[in-house]
Formats: sequence, structure tokens, C-alpha cells
Amino acid sequence: MAMSLFRTSAARRAMMSSRSAPAVFARGKATLPDLDYDYGALEPYISGQIMELHYTKHHQTYVNGYNAAIEKFDSTKDIKSQIELQSLINFHGGGHVNHSLFWKNLAPRKDGGGELPGSKSELTKAIEAKYGSYDKLISTVNAQLAAIQGSGWTWLVKDSKSGDLDIINKPNQDPITGAYIPLVGIDAWEHAYYLQYKNVKVDYFKAIWNVINWKEAEKRFNA
Ligand SMILES: [Fe+2]
Repeated sequence: MAMSLFRTSAARRAMMSSRSAPAVFARGKATLPDLDYDYGALEPYISGQIMELHYTKHHQTYVNGYNAAIEKFDSTKDIKSQIELQSLINFHGGGHVNHSLFWKNLAPRKDGGGELPGSKSELTKAIEAKYGSYDKLISTVNAQLAAIQGSGWTWLVKDSKSGDLDIINKPNQDPITGAYIPLVGIDAWEHAYYLQYKNVKVDYFKAIWNVINWKEAEKRFNA
């Protein structure tokens, strides 16, 4: 399934195909990526109701918010107005990027969700060297998740310069940027668990590892 975050608009295609087109083109719009599995495929760890709302309502809102903010940004030449739009672009654009990574981070059990890479995996070697074992990595990530005050994410990342692994907390929808490659991200916003786990978010943090797509993490690590 396509994971392109930005789809070329019809207007842009039309302009690009026209010989008389001006030397400008409309910016591609962000779009909701396809899911690789059904809403209920991650049960009992994440309910189908949560998945449907999370994907069709929350993620869609980030997509819409990003497109609206970019449209305003493009339509003004006033620098102060553009600066004021930065936080909206960061929030909604970050929400879109984070959730697009998150859906790929998950897989149904029947498709290998929760299955740890073997001892020969380069990712396994890096995790064992840094954290001792997958169990210790998971308990460290879960402690970081539990420490988030309000809304945010915890990410297992690889520093593309040093190759080192690290665990990073990000508030709100701030995305992972710079030299870090996001390997596994866990959404600690209430919308990700509240309908099923209520106030006991630590149970959600424990459960989600049953459907983590380690093949995707390995792919990002080896890229
Ligand atoms: Fe979310």
C-alpha cells in the first residue's frame, strides 16, 4: 500500500503537463496514508474502535490542519503572518508525520506483530549492546512513556551519524528531526488508549509491544 505522505494535486499535474504552464506549480497536498491492516486486526491489544477513530478522525485532522496552514502560508507574503503559522505547521505536520510512522510501526500478530528479530539481526545486536536485552529496552521505553506529562511520544531512534541507539521523548506532535532516524514510536496521547484502557495507561504501554512491527524497525535501522 502507498505510504506517500504527499500526493501531487490534479492542478499541479495539469500545470506540469501544459507547455504553456507558468514556472510555478501548486504544492502537493498531504493525504492520509493507507493502512496495511484492518481496524480490528490489532485486537485485543488495541481495539478496532480506537484504531478507526485514531486513523479516520485524529490523523485526518492533522492532515487537514497541515494543508490549511500551508495554504495560508503560501497565500501571504507577510513575514509576521508566516512566522505565526509555524506552530500550526509544526503541530499538524508533525501529527501527520508521526502517525504515518506509527501505523507502520504496528502489525497484527498473524503478520509478525510483536515478533522480535533474531540474534543475527543488526538491530538485535545494537539493542543488546546498548540496553542488554529487548526486555530491558521495553521497560526503559515504558518508563519514559509513563513520564510524559500531558501529550507526547516516546521514540527509539538511531543517530545516523554515530549509529547509536537512543530513546527520546517529544511533547505534543513535535516530530523526530535532524540526524535521528525514528525506529519505533509510541503514541502517548490519551486518544491512543483511553477508550480501552481508561486511566491505566501503563497497561496500554505494556500491551502495545505485542503488536510492534519489528521488521519495520529493522528496515529503518538498516536503511
Ligand atoms: Fe495519535
